[in-house]
Amino acid sequence: MNEYLPGLAGVPATQSNISDIDGEKGLLSYRGYPIEQLTANSNFEETTLLLLDGCLPTTEVLADFDNKLRRNRRVQYHITDLMKTFPPSGHPMEMLQTAVSSLAMFYPSTVSGDASADDLEYIHNMSVKIIARMGTIVAMWQHIRHGYDPIEPRTDLTYAENFLYMFNGVEPDPLLAKILDVCLILHAEHTINASTFSVLVNGSTLASPYSVISAAIAALSGPLHGGANQKVLEMLEDIGSPDKADAYVEERLAKKEVIWGMGHREYKTKDPRATILEKMVDEFIEARGGAVNPLLETAKAVEKACDERLSHKGVYPNVDFYSGILYTEMGIPADQFTAIFAIARSAGWLAHWREQLDDNRIFRPTQVYTGKPPRDYVPLDQRK
Ligand code: COA
Repeated sequence: MNEYLPGLAGVPATQSNISDIDGEKGLLSYRGYPIEQLTANSNFEETTLLLLDGCLPTTEVLADFDNKLRRNRRVQYHITDLMKTFPPSGHPMEMLQTAVSSLAMFYPSTVSGDASADDLEYIHNMSVKIIARMGTIVAMWQHIRHGYDPIEPRTDLTYAENFLYMFNGVEPDPLLAKILDVCLILHAEHTINASTFSVLVNGSTLASPYSVISAAIAALSGPLHGGANQKVLEMLEDIGSPDKADAYVEERLAKKEVIWGMGHREYKTKDPRATILEKMVDEFIEARGGAVNPLLETAKAVEKACDERLSHKGVYPNVDFYSGILYTEMGIPADQFTAIFAIARSAGWLAHWREQLDDNRIFRPTQVYTGKPPRDYVPLDQRK
């Protein structure tokens, strides 16, 4: 019998050349390019194309892709009408999953799964449609849930600028747009995590890409995965001030509860994305006058308290630990954090969808049966 490993820890579920993690050294690369170089030099549009196609695009190829993304931002009014029927209290991730899944009915899709040239064009077009509309839907919801009509997307703005414009309803601040762009790059891809694995599983059945991505959104929403960024902010607000961090961590660990934004299956050191995000928070606060930020100070105190108690287990801050502070400083409400994560991750998800279809075999793992041996049915009147 094959050994059962809970959570498939350490079990390769696929072969992939999209991204790579060195968990001991704390390194992450997309298509071989270190994340630090991409955040310093690239933008979300280019990084998305790098993930989808496997190479850095030429000027012409990038311009064409960017143009397609801009032209695909609008959604049919049926989607807007549908979103207006959602309860305003609905969580943005539940809204996003429902809206993306509904797109399948408006943009019918098929794939043969034989990696033909037709499929490649179709896969590319579908990827553009989904990535372009993810930002639109999340930004639209910000207005719809408060009872207002959404703001129409613009084609003269970059992905990050357009999102901020649609979300806030004012001309995007260049500094905020730059920060969001870096955040989108940082969140775009991360090997075979739970949501990406769900892309492989659902994609392997040749389900519609909208169904594939809506399944991935569901997986990402959980607090052990992408939903942790909202939990971190709630935790920091709950702690209240840096001097209370140590006792809070001590108490939670004593109760065998996790510290949100800490730990990772792959990293046994600090997540390189957390390092970049922490630096960005510092720089952003400095750029805005350098006032003491209670959330940041509390986060640093939590990190220190965890370092003393959890570093021997290889538990350090992950990507979700500092991202929420940055988004809060940018005026984004906490329940939208994971939805913004999902916008970015759609790039990686669709790269993996394409890779899966390129050499597809339906996922059908086995199990270790722990139930009863075969036995006879007992009629209802003879049961005790
Ligand atoms: N707080 C406290 N202890 C933690 C911890 C955390 N956030 N993350 C891991 N640990 C501890 C575990 O309790 C375990 O301790 P033990 O060996 O004494 O039992 C040890 O570290 C190994 O962790 P394990 O549960 O095997 O990790 P995993 O790979 O199964 O889970 C996560 C990974 C991400 C789900 C887990 O670290 C976690 O729940 N983190 C908080 C949620 C979060 O931030 N998620 C976002 C991930 S990007």
